[in-house]
Amino acid sequence: DKGDFRHYMLKEIYEQPKVIAACLDGRVSETSILTNCFGADSDFLKEVENIHIVACGTSYHAGMVAKYWIEDLAGLPCAVEVASEYRYRKVAVPKNTLFLTLSQSGETADTLAALKMAKGLGYLTTLAICNVPSSSLVRESALTLLTNAGVEIGVASTKAFTTQLTALLVTSVAIAVQHGLSAARETELVRSLRSLPAYIDMALKQDSAIKMLADRFANKQNAIFLGRGSMFPIALEGALKLKEISYIHAEAYPAGELKHGPLALVDEDMPIITVVPNNSLLDKLKSNLQEVSARGGELYVFADLDTEFHEEVGVTFTEVPKVPDILAPIVHTIPLQLLAYYVAVVKGTDVDQPRNLAKSVTVE
Ligand code: M6R
Repeated sequence: DKGDFRHYMLKEIYEQPKVIAACLDGRVSETSILTNCFGADSDFLKEVENIHIVACGTSYHAGMVAKYWIEDLAGLPCAVEVASEYRYRKVAVPKNTLFLTLSQSGETADTLAALKMAKGLGYLTTLAICNVPSSSLVRESALTLLTNAGVEIGVASTKAFTTQLTALLVTSVAIAVQHGLSAARETELVRSLRSLPAYIDMALKQDSAIKMLADRFANKQNAIFLGRGSMFPIALEGALKLKEISYIHAEAYPAGELKHGPLALVDEDMPIITVVPNNSLLDKLKSNLQEVSARGGELYVFADLDTEFHEEVGVTFTEVPKVPDILAPIVHTIPLQLLAYYVAVVKGTDVDQPRNLAKSVTVE
């Protein structure tokens, strides 16, 4: 039931504060990660020395964000790969490697095949972060962390993605705790996690501002999304959402790569959508954006007020709430979901059932 919403996708976007709270429920206390949240005592995480993450589509983008978190918080090497590639190559597995799959449906053929293959490769154990408790992926994995997002109907994944990110941050902190993260830092991170639903609520307040931008995309053929650091996968996810439901060709790049090629595409007709973290990369990103402005590119900047971006000719600014750096990729996802949604509505496409796509890709 869509309730008062015109599409399931919009309903699911708005469910995010609630389902993220559900995802945290039973996984964190006021100050720490609960040790039994993987269906086994988290002691096994002590032995983990490497992490391999395998997934498809949006779930793969969630895995890419987790790489930044795991390497930053736990100091362990983490590799992320799409399942359709992983399953057809010879993979070198270092000792004590955790095999982690991500899937909304738990029925994605490539992800299941990758898990099957991984079982013969001597991994320490297999963990699935999944939204469907009765799925094949959950059944076939040794350990599970359910995302608790509830049924997702829109083909374009929204709440499944942000709950995957939430579950991945819980997992990253849990691994880090077993590898020397201080209790004080754990508490700080858990407090950040607990405030996530409120931050998402704040981000949703930009709905009408973003809706007003949509008209400006309706006649575009192309768009470029930029991010740096853990925001790069969010740029990829923003581009995927736009492609899937509005059929506009969109590419995402880490902003530092612009001058290595994509800058050649930039002219007055090219919208450049940028998710801006407020951290040490801010100044570097600003100089990347100047290169875009200098070529007449139309910039759409999503950032918090402290980044001191100003609207000027060719620059449209949309405020995103100021949040702890670790949460920025999750909170910045919201405006990009809304943007893709409203552009698709303006274009009149079938938002919940985009052409050529299936909700769950159970064949190769
Ligand atoms: O159910 P899964 O998370 O395994 O699905 C993976 C992809 O097929 C899925 O994320 C797809 O990319 C979505 N349509 C993205 O919106």
